[in-house]
Amino acid sequence: MIAAAPDGPVANLDQAPQIVLQPPPGDTVRHWLMPLDAMDPAQRRNHLRALRDILGSSLAFGPHEHPAVLASLGIGFDGLQALRLPLPLQQVFRRQAPAFVQGAVLRSAGQLGDTGPSAASHWDAGFGQGKTVWCLSLHGRHDGVQLLKEKLEKYLPKEFLPQPLTATHFNGPQGAPGHWVHFGYRDGITDVRIRGVNSRSSAPDPIDCEPGSLLLGHRSDLGDNPFALAAWPDLVRRFFANSSFGVLRKIQQEVDGFEAFVGGREDLRAELCGRNPDGTVLHPVTGDSANRWRLDLKQDPQGQRCPFGSHVRRMRGAGDAHGLDRPLLRRSVPYGEPLWQPDSDKEQERGLLGHFFCSNLETQFEHLLGQWADRVPLGSQDPGNAKDPLCGNHEPDGSTWVRANGTALSGLKPWTVTRGTLYLWYPSRFAIQQLIDDAEFKAIDNWPLAP
Ligand code: HEM
Repeated sequence: MIAAAPDGPVANLDQAPQIVLQPPPGDTVRHWLMPLDAMDPAQRRNHLRALRDILGSSLAFGPHEHPAVLASLGIGFDGLQALRLPLPLQQVFRRQAPAFVQGAVLRSAGQLGDTGPSAASHWDAGFGQGKTVWCLSLHGRHDGVQLLKEKLEKYLPKEFLPQPLTATHFNGPQGAPGHWVHFGYRDGITDVRIRGVNSRSSAPDPIDCEPGSLLLGHRSDLGDNPFALAAWPDLVRRFFANSSFGVLRKIQQEVDGFEAFVGGREDLRAELCGRNPDGTVLHPVTGDSANRWRLDLKQDPQGQRCPFGSHVRRMRGAGDAHGLDRPLLRRSVPYGEPLWQPDSDKEQERGLLGHFFCSNLETQFEHLLGQWADRVPLGSQDPGNAKDPLCGNHEPDGSTWVRANGTALSGLKPWTVTRGTLYLWYPSRFAIQQLIDDAEFKAIDNWPLAP
């Protein structure tokens, strides 16, 4: 399918990793952080070929393939180097995507607010520095994922398939419908879609974006296109076009502490998120039932319906004068049982396997977390000193949140701990083929590096 971007090139969506185009099937996800260190480049390329062959049509691209289990593959910059990506192509990444090249470990303290217990030095094995990994994700129904897992185990060496990270969607308290997350909110209300594409997303409040906000090589909502690569040969442009950047971020949630702060005040829970726990808009315009979900911040310049300091308002950019120009696509799934499940184990670790997609890690993912979540956002009339109430790294001794009614509440703590983050590149169908069959790359390796 071809989507025309006004004033920009044409996005060939059939080449794009499917996870970026529509919500994946099923309720279960497994992420394997596959270590590559013990292999040489030729073996790694063989493994990529084997993976592609074993996964078959599950490794889906474009919006029209409908696998029961969706496989997606993200590769870190060191993973690309491990495949001996030609130096001129590495140079393109170095210039156009420095955060990706540096990796999340180096960016974490300065750009992502990961300090104290969230510091990269404490991250789980697999996310740590000096390890070369690919991230293979399988989304689907539990039984389908299990079958494909068994097939992978049969054909791939054990050391290539360590224990996966596993997460499963769940319903809300008393079986409330939809995908909910710990802290007691329904998620999946918004989903970012490429404008003009007939997405299968059934999100109640979808957000349309330019192709270039999710896919490389096209004009983004900020009006730029860092991977236009006009001066480069066609092969190079095609290698980057229609791929995407992804982030896997394991976030542990301290649910007890959060619940103690909320203290059963459901109106406060809603204010902290910027939506009611069931995802509906706080104080919708009366008599307009279609607007139960639709959050139009232009209609809320004072932050009465969606408070300036709330998670949702921060993640959209509090001023919002120019609409949504830094969209971030979310495919996150919670791990651990919800505390509202009657027989849930209170001591169990729980949290969110955050999975985010964008075309620019610096201006999208890092801007949302490092600026909008971590600082008082521009245009904000929020008089408190709290960071993002759901995922901000608040001062350990507590910050202050001022409620819509003017009451100041002190004691917001960091209720999340980052357990690891990976910056990944999700190649297009064309790019995966090029990585497997490096014949054309050999010629590229001899090109002079651009000055
Ligand atoms: C444990 C931590 C987190 C929890 C519990 C959480 C929960 C939520 C909830 C309940 C919503 C509203 C439902 C919806 O819009 O679908 C939401 C929206 C959103 N979250 Fe988070 N979130 C967390 C971390 C993050 C992180 C780390 C990011 C990345 C920067 C992020 C980015 C977003 C974005 C972009 C939206 C959509 C805002 C909009 O445009 O309406 N969240 N989150």
